[in-house]
Amino acid sequence: MNISKKLLLIVALTCLEVSITVFAAFEIAKGARFHQLNFLHLKYINQLANRVEHINLNNHIDIDTLEADILAIREQPQTCINEANALNLFIMKMINTSHAILLCKQDVELANKALYSLEQYRNGVLSREQILQYLVAALQQFNKNSEAFEAPITKTVSFIFISFIPLVIIISLFNIGSITYLSRTISSSIRNLTSLLLSQSHSHKSLDYEFDTNTPDELKSLIFAAKKRIENDLLNLESSQHLQAIVKTQTASLQQANDELAQFAYRASHDLKSPLTGAKSLAKFVIEDIKNADTQEALKNTQTIVNQMEKLELLVTDILKLAKADIATKEREVINFDEIIGDIKTRLYWLIKQNNCDFNTFVNVPVSIKTDKTRLTQIIENLISNALKYYDSTKAFSFVKCDIFIDKNDFTIIIEDNGIGISKKFHNEVFEMFKRFHPHLSEGSGLGLALVKKHVEFLKGTINFVSSSHGSTFKITLPLSTLI
Ligand SMILES: Nc1ncnc2c1ncn2[C@@H]1O[C@H](COP(=O)(O)OP(=O)(O)OP(=O)(O)O)[C@@H](O)[C@H]1O
Ligand SMILES: [Mg+2]
Repeated sequence: MNISKKLLLIVALTCLEVSITVFAAFEIAKGARFHQLNFLHLKYINQLANRVEHINLNNHIDIDTLEADILAIREQPQTCINEANALNLFIMKMINTSHAILLCKQDVELANKALYSLEQYRNGVLSREQILQYLVAALQQFNKNSEAFEAPITKTVSFIFISFIPLVIIISLFNIGSITYLSRTISSSIRNLTSLLLSQSHSHKSLDYEFDTNTPDELKSLIFAAKKRIENDLLNLESSQHLQAIVKTQTASLQQANDELAQFAYRASHDLKSPLTGAKSLAKFVIEDIKNADTQEALKNTQTIVNQMEKLELLVTDILKLAKADIATKEREVINFDEIIGDIKTRLYWLIKQNNCDFNTFVNVPVSIKTDKTRLTQIIENLISNALKYYDSTKAFSFVKCDIFIDKNDFTIIIEDNGIGISKKFHNEVFEMFKRFHPHLSEGSGLGLALVKKHVEFLKGTINFVSSSHGSTFKITLPLSTLI
């Protein structure tokens, strides 16, 4: 039986014990009251007897006084009848004392008859002698009944006293025993559970088994509630730690972005400043040349200014492209690779010719690819232009190969050359802005690969490269699922 059921039993027994005690007390008090009423009854009988004696001595009969006396005599048996409830009647019937109530009924009836006789006397139906005889006979009967009433009432009170008090004592003892047993069971269950939870020798399995078999349901629920609470607290702690970690990573990436931006601003302004300073100095020379009427020199210097401005324009265009790479993209469209490659070839024609490179493209894309055309074109064009720009003039034969194909779940672009390559010590700086490792070989802003990387990341792809003095290979993979 679990703890709550045991407690419920004790509550029920205590209620029973209290009810029996209260009932017994009431019944005993009622017995005493019945005795008291009987004494009062006797008093009024004596009062009537004295009055009847006075009448016998030839005195006048005062009907009203006699009526009042008889009404007073009738009141006590009537009260007894009213106060005897069903349970009293049942107990009295069981122990053979119910005649006490019959005696009361007899007295009430006798009193009613006496009142009726007085009424008859008043109406002249009965004579003085007749009424006096009747009253004497009634008084005798009242006395007899009153005497006979005492014994059954005493017997009933004794019965209640003898039978209910031991019952109350037995239930009380039983209650005391049960409460003692229950409190011991509860405290020993708590002790066992505490030592079970604190013991380290148990395996998880045996701990669970012991817990399941030897722990009362209420303690199990208590432990489960505590466990749940601890789990929730741990979960909250974990999620707050997780949030802290996210904040930390985001702060770090913001810091990095901030650093990059500062570096970018510094490099961009530096690279913009030198052609501007150069152009300003040259413009001063041109002024001097014009003053000296040296048109040849003025022309030469002006041409240099134009060249520098073209470079500046290119740099500004590249910076703008890089800035745009971070901003929103255009709508995706189906890519026509022949068209893209054809356009790139046209734009880079001068480089292919100048370097005498063997430039080949292989496109094998059987599915239709949908993506941002500008980004994809800039990726391919930058890599091809690098491969062409950084060719190795010491090698007898230069080649640039562009492979575009589907590999399992990836859309892949590989651009390979046998150019001068990038020294291993610079490999981790390749995608940084304004980094140029062969500035003497070719013109450029040093922003091409940074732009390529930004585009690839935007398209959720990856970029890798291998590079040595034998040449370089750049490989880009974009998940096919994002391009269909
Ligand atoms: N295929 C390659 N072979 C050898 N070196 C390369 C190759 N690609 C890039 N590099 C080196 O990496 C540097 C950075 O390339 P990136 O494309 O970012 O700039 P860039 O070509 O100098 O200028 P631009 O901004 O005009 O592209 C180059 O200056 C070059 O030194
Ligand atoms: Mg480049």
